Amino acid sequence: MRILTGITPSGTLHIGNYFGAMRPAIELQDRGEAYYFIADYHSMTALTDAEARRGFTRGIALDWLACGLDPKKAIFWRQSDLPEVCELTWLIGSLTPMGLLERAHSFKDKTAKGISPNFGLFAYPVLMAADILLYDTNLVPVGKDQKQHLEMTRDIAIKFNQTYGETFVVPEEEIRDEVAVVPGLDGQKMSKSYGNTVEIFGDEKALRKKIMGIVMDSRTPAEPKPDADKNLAIQLLKLVAPADVAADYENRLRAGGLGYGDLKKGLFEHYWNYFAPYRAKRAELAANLDYVESVLRDGAERARATASVVLKRARKACGLE
Ligand code: ADP
Ligand code: TRP
Repeated sequence: MRILTGITPSGTLHIGNYFGAMRPAIELQDRGEAYYFIADYHSMTALTDAEARRGFTRGIALDWLACGLDPKKAIFWRQSDLPEVCELTWLIGSLTPMGLLERAHSFKDKTAKGISPNFGLFAYPVLMAADILLYDTNLVPVGKDQKQHLEMTRDIAIKFNQTYGETFVVPEEEIRDEVAVVPGLDGQKMSKSYGNTVEIFGDEKALRKKIMGIVMDSRTPAEPKPDADKNLAIQLLKLVAPADVAADYENRLRAGGLGYGDLKKGLFEHYWNYFAPYRAKRAELAANLDYVESVLRDGAERARATASVVLKRARKACGLE
């Protein structure tokens, strides 16, 4: 089984990215052939600062390697090191109906917000489909927000196969329901575009301040809180604390007697400890960037071995060869 996922270098990774995308992907590297890439082409629809792109790309490489991506098990590369994906985008894009792309949430949400769309934003699901189809992918672990893109990928693969004959593997998505949407500090979905994130790595003081700043209601500590399971700090605690510890906090909050300040302090400690080993590993890697670069270069070579076979198959199927 071949498992593939990409992560866009458009900012600093947060714990929504970690629990929704990274951790499931890292666990899956033991279950099949893992293909994981940094989607730097995808970052271009929104980010136009070249230095920032380089920085985020390097940062994400460090993050993934620090959090347990094992380059001996997984193929890890930078998307743009295989420009072949752009060729495949054209091949499949030429069969993709405008209507399908017009219905994409990613496009509709941005235009509804008044962002004037460019070709890249409109074509984004086609590039994403090419990312997946280029490697004969069976399984794509993603968050809920990517579900529609996977459906579009399947539609595109099926249409190509019907038009030109069996060419592409039709992939499945894997969405982890228990962590499907990690809430942000304001209760909405955690997202860098909402400014409500808790970063995986960052300055201790600033992160403590963010967590201690979560706004709660004005009920007194003594008051029982029957809605304890809906409490944002409890929801986040369930991700970073052992199950019995999180359950204990939840029970104390429900019964009354646990103040919000103490709850948030507990959340911060568990969050900070959860990522401590990864923080140490990341510092080590950051001092050895040549190694990180060599991992990505080697990954690109291994990815190309697969991509060249699939691209040739697609080119032949549609009469380019
Ligand atoms: P952001 O919303 O911060 O821009 P991205 O769109 O770059 O995040 O998402 C990268 C990956 O992380 C995707 O697979 C996405 O589904 C997942 N992801 C992002 N935010 C969350 C969240 N709050 N909960 C669960 N998964 C998330
Ligand atoms: N679009 C995905 C996101 O925003 C990132 C991505 C690009 C991706 N190509 C992919 C994810 C292919 C899975 C498979 O999160």
